[in-house]
Amino acid sequence: VRTKLLGLPGSLRSNSNSLAILRGLQDGLPAGVSMDIRDLRLPLYDQDIDTPDAPAEVHAFRQAIAEADGVVIVTPEYNYGMPGVLKNALDWASRPYGKSALISKPVLVISNSPAFTGGVRAHQQVNDTLLALPAKLLAGPQVVVGSVGEKIKDGKLADEAVLKFALSAIDRLSAAK
Ligand code: FNR
Repeated sequence: VRTKLLGLPGSLRSNSNSLAILRGLQDGLPAGVSMDIRDLRLPLYDQDIDTPDAPAEVHAFRQAIAEADGVVIVTPEYNYGMPGVLKNALDWASRPYGKSALISKPVLVISNSPAFTGGVRAHQQVNDTLLALPAKLLAGPQVVVGSVGEKIKDGKLADEAVLKFALSAIDRLSAAK
């Protein structure tokens, strides 16, 4: 049985460390597990356009979540919180109220930063938001990647210890579906 994961980087820039973490994890996935990576370039959330006629990207984003067995969010920290791009996407994903594709969806959150603090404040905010849905927030050891710049090579997470730790969380995510 295949497990289909959806990887969401909380940063849009092409050279993103968050994206590089997802790419590194993608390469290390066990047999039977796959992960698509999708960027969070969506319109600004506006309840006036959150209708059945919402922009096509919104429908496609919600559909991608619905089709995934689990979601991996890799977030940087912006000004002690999660980037607006990620909050915006989670707000879109949280609707329609009571019917969100994220309800009971297993979600693994990974934070990262060039600082040794690893984006823990953003991590906490993402957890809080996921509890509002409620998504099935993966319990257990939190994956926080500090000093991330030293751990990336050729656009991919390449630190053996971090990869091993994060992939063990992916195993827990796959088992949670
Ligand atoms: C940052 N950065 C940052 N880092 C951090 O650890 N705590 C913080 O509060 C902030 N604040 C912050 C605000 C803004 C507006 C920017 C642009 C950056 C630095 C941030 O961790 C760094 O730019 C990362 O490389 C961004 O993640 P990606 O794009 O590499 O995934």
